Amino acid sequence: MKTSLRTLTFVVCVISSIAYGQKFEGLALTPPMGWNSWNKFGCNVDEQMIRQIADSMVSSGMKDAGYQYVVIDDCWHGGRDSMGFIYPNAQRFPSGMKALAGYIHAKGLKFGIYSCAGNKTCGGHPGSRGYEYQDALTYAKWGVDYLKYDWCNTSGLNAAGAYTTMRDALFATGRPIVFSICEWGENQPWNWAKDVGHLWRITGDITNCFDCQVDHGTWTSWGIMQTIEMRKDIRKFAGPGHWNDPDMMEVGNGMTTAEDRAHFTLWCMVAAPLISGNDLRAMSKETIEILTNKEVVAVDQDSLGVQGFRYKDSEEGMETWIKPLSHGDWAVCFLNRSGKTVKFEFDWAKNNIYDDLSKTAINNDLVYQVRDLWKKKHIGDTKKRISADIPSHDVLMVRLIKQ
Ligand code: GLA
Repeated sequence: MKTSLRTLTFVVCVISSIAYGQKFEGLALTPPMGWNSWNKFGCNVDEQMIRQIADSMVSSGMKDAGYQYVVIDDCWHGGRDSMGFIYPNAQRFPSGMKALAGYIHAKGLKFGIYSCAGNKTCGGHPGSRGYEYQDALTYAKWGVDYLKYDWCNTSGLNAAGAYTTMRDALFATGRPIVFSICEWGENQPWNWAKDVGHLWRITGDITNCFDCQVDHGTWTSWGIMQTIEMRKDIRKFAGPGHWNDPDMMEVGNGMTTAEDRAHFTLWCMVAAPLISGNDLRAMSKETIEILTNKEVVAVDQDSLGVQGFRYKDSEEGMETWIKPLSHGDWAVCFLNRSGKTVKFEFDWAKNNIYDDLSKTAINNDLVYQVRDLWKKKHIGDTKKRISADIPSHDVLMVRLIKQ
């Protein structure tokens, strides 16, 4: 009798840990796509701007290209009421978050919000520490579909534990909410977050500069090249439902068109979440063309879900990046990091390209069609060498199509 009671208790524990102790599965099977307020607007967020951004996500063609989440980052907060419930800043969000979520949902988009594992957010607003279940319930009631969860003011907290608490709180609401872990890679989330979040930041904050870093005294923000260099050997941790996140994009925030194109291409090559960070209400034609190039987006969103890798650094600042795709196709990016145009040649027959993660190779016995994804045209096949002038800080990106 005693044993069977013990067995029963064990079974109940196992079942309840299965039922409550998990992240929402089936979300972010390809890297999440959307927009976040932080890179362009910082703390200057309000409901009118967010509505206009949602309008523009539709009218610019971004929704049609796959962008979905409209995420308000830090500083939306008002305070906590006498019962501890969080509420938004009444001047900036007079209609409240539920109404804003309704507006976004009516456009066929999804709504995201920001909080922090610490006592306070990075911007000094109320954090979720000690309020995890209450906050998760509030977000679910508002209709939140995505939570970015930061890591400021967390002294004494264990990262895996704190993020697991919020994961469980989100799961307990019963609402599917994508969980975006933002602790900048400090606690190596790729080692523990596969079953905790759907994406995790691997780097500190990005800045709108191709090749520089900005010192802010107590912290540094990183350019595109610095960000892409920062973590090595972690591609094996990414895959459907759990992505490495090199931060939100700076496309349209002041770099040259070539740099924006190179930045976007690299994010797609490494299967990064494509969270735009610019003002969608005032985009140049070039910015829209970059963000909505469906053939390039398809490389990021490929269902195989394998993060690409740098195949080689060659001379004169040229690098070659490779990403295996479904159906035996490959994406290849030739990146010119140097300050001048490079006359570039690449002979497929002289390169044996093997990916030791997917255990597949570009098969030199086959002839692949080669399609330039930025020019949107076929440029021959792999029997022919690639020969091109690649401008400074620009890319040539091709898809090898298996016939
Ligand atoms: C941290 C994050 C940023 C942003 C700010 C908000 O720095 O890394 O992406 O969310 O906090 O304060």
